[in-house]
Amino acid sequence: MKLTKQQEEMLGGKYSEGTATALKIQIAVGESFGAERLVPITRAHVALSNQDADLWFAEKLLKAGAKCKIPPTVNPGFCLSYFQKVTTISEEDASLMQRTHEAYKALGAVLTYSCTPYLGGNIPRFGEIVAFSESSATPYVNSVWGARSNRESAQSALCAAITGLVPEYGLLTDENRQGDILVEVQAEMKSDFEYQLLGYMGKKIGNGVPVFTGLPKYVTPEAHMNLGAQLNTSGAYGLYHIVGVTPEAQTLEAAFGGKEPKRRVTITDEDLQGILQEISEEGARKIDFAMFGCPHFTISQVQEIAKILAGKKLKSEMWILTSSYTKELAERMGLLEVINNAGGHIVEDTCPDQPCWHHLKGKLGVTESPKCAYYPKRRGLSFVIRDLRTCVEAALKGEVE
Ligand code: F3S
Repeated sequence: MKLTKQQEEMLGGKYSEGTATALKIQIAVGESFGAERLVPITRAHVALSNQDADLWFAEKLLKAGAKCKIPPTVNPGFCLSYFQKVTTISEEDASLMQRTHEAYKALGAVLTYSCTPYLGGNIPRFGEIVAFSESSATPYVNSVWGARSNRESAQSALCAAITGLVPEYGLLTDENRQGDILVEVQAEMKSDFEYQLLGYMGKKIGNGVPVFTGLPKYVTPEAHMNLGAQLNTSGAYGLYHIVGVTPEAQTLEAAFGGKEPKRRVTITDEDLQGILQEISEEGARKIDFAMFGCPHFTISQVQEIAKILAGKKLKSEMWILTSSYTKELAERMGLLEVINNAGGHIVEDTCPDQPCWHHLKGKLGVTESPKCAYYPKRRGLSFVIRDLRTCVEAALKGEVE
């Protein structure tokens, strides 16, 4: 890889040993993909996971003097102060969250603790080169905003934030942004929920850049968010196109760059029903809790729940995960009060795949997100998956249809 004089100096340790290590990692990644040079970025998002390996890496770079040149927004861990009030958090789990907070604070990150930075606070323009990690974040900035990011890991995105650079390969180049797979959607897309199931069709769609046809002309931000999150739970997709909707796919020809698709796939109502049966815990009626906000809920999703809950009492626990910004809005709009009065929680900075959920171990919940049902399985939580309204009604009755 060709380096500029300044990049050579960075590699030589001029800006700290930690910065040199970050660059060394990026050069190794770039060379393995055949990149010839490094290019500057203007934004980053780091999918910190508040887990041992992630913290080890962040603290290692920090101790070696690294600081973020491009302050990245960061993913959720869990809101320690909230969970210490409502449940028991072990010293070990509290210390992990505190150390993660201290490490990223000292690295100079913007401590947003949300996995939907692309909806507010970290929105790139068309064509901007950025380094975004996180399942729904990378496809959103590429597909919806038309920015250019590879599917970064938490670690490679942190390296990019520190050096202010990324190796030029993959989705940063014109040819790799063209579609490979034509996905003709024949299923009826009645609500944002169907996009969760469509995204979970990764096995059937296969590897490459999917180009969706047959979707409605207006796809909501929540539907894009769901589609990207689930595509990266059932597979690995940094970019998708929707013909007539996403900016680089105004026509089918533009989406494929004038080439023939390498593969054609049709998705029907039966496919969506089939995947739901496969991933949802079926056969049970009684549920213990409901969990929403994986990815973090928007204010309209919070509004939708508050409308159903107004004046009623929940039979099951309800947890709505969102950004601190959306929670603040919910409070101003009186939605937090409605949800709290019904017995539900809105909690900021928190993800379902965290140690704060010990009290739900061995219990059965409902969620509208397959990703929410997938990751916390290893923590002993299981889920029935339904559309949002059915989930909220189930939490009111304590039973799911
Ligand atoms: Fe976000 Fe955690 Fe879900 S990072 S998408 S809430 S698994």
